[in-house]
Amino acid sequence: MGVLDGKVALVTGAALGQGRSHARELARAGADVVLVDVCAEDPAAIHPIATSNDLAEAADAVSATGRTALPIEADVTDEAAMEHVVDRTYEQFGRIDVIVANAAVFSVARTWEYSRATWDRVIEVCLTGAWCTTRAAIPRMIEAGLPGSIIMIGSTAATKGIPNMGPYAAAKHGLVGLTKVLAAELGEYDIRVNMVCPTSTNTTMLRNDPTRRIFTGGADDDELFAEAATATHLLQIPWLEPEDISNAVMFFATEASRGCTGSMLNVDAGYTIK
Ligand SMILES: NC(=O)c1ccc[n+]([C@@H]2O[C@H](COP(=O)([O-])OP(=O)(O)OC[C@H]3O[C@@H](n4cnc5c(N)ncnc54)[C@H](O)[C@@H]3O)[C@@H](O)[C@H]2O)c1
Repeated sequence: MGVLDGKVALVTGAALGQGRSHARELARAGADVVLVDVCAEDPAAIHPIATSNDLAEAADAVSATGRTALPIEADVTDEAAMEHVVDRTYEQFGRIDVIVANAAVFSVARTWEYSRATWDRVIEVCLTGAWCTTRAAIPRMIEAGLPGSIIMIGSTAATKGIPNMGPYAAAKHGLVGLTKVLAAELGEYDIRVNMVCPTSTNTTMLRNDPTRRIFTGGADDDELFAEAATATHLLQIPWLEPEDISNAVMFFATEASRGCTGSMLNVDAGYTIK
């Protein structure tokens, strides 16, 4: 018996990294999972974006737990596409209990050096994408009359000014506001809205050449990268693993967090208080 038996979770950015881990852990706890990913290159991202194969692999990891996976290629910034995702979910499963708004793109540069196109796209995916995702699902969730849990994936960049992350930090700060407003609007429907804020996490969004150079001051040296990343933390670790973030997502996805809405949980090895 899993704590999420009979529930349905929708995870965006589910093909790679943390999203793939969240999808698998939600399924292990008993949920059927809708896995959404864009599966198309994005020039604003300095890291790989998922392919269709990545999404199929993530869906296989869900199926391997014995739960049903519904993989859908969709861009979280496309309102019509996200409405279609929600329609297909209700057609197949008849409910959504948990949403993990996880999709994002990351870029690094001094704030004044960003092109307008990159500035706009990072904010569009990281902030507007979470709005398009929840906007499509909330009316159906309210209509269904079931309790729900919406989990926004923020970042340490949602609370601190971190150099070189202008649009990403602005978007993640914006996500704090969106989380709080939705929490205020949805409490009466027993739909909780909370946020998980990870520090550096071992995915290709972090482990790429431009990001390493930001940490090392320009050197292509993985050891230096790990040392510099460790120096940002109180705990003596350079980065967390996706499963560490999934543990926090599972807390908000389940009844264990029934008293929480509008909360932010830092999973940050002490980054934000250092
Ligand atoms: N990796 C880190 O160090 C770190 C730190 C703090 C917060 N985060 C946050 O954690 C979350 C997960 O990131 P990750 O580390 O797993 O990175 P990742 O790059 O492995 O995963 C991001 C996923 O989002 C997908 N995606 C990108 N644009 C999309 C779009 N328009 N529509 C649908 N899907 C799209 C990508 O294809 C990818 O599968 C993000 O919200 C990120 O901002 C990451």
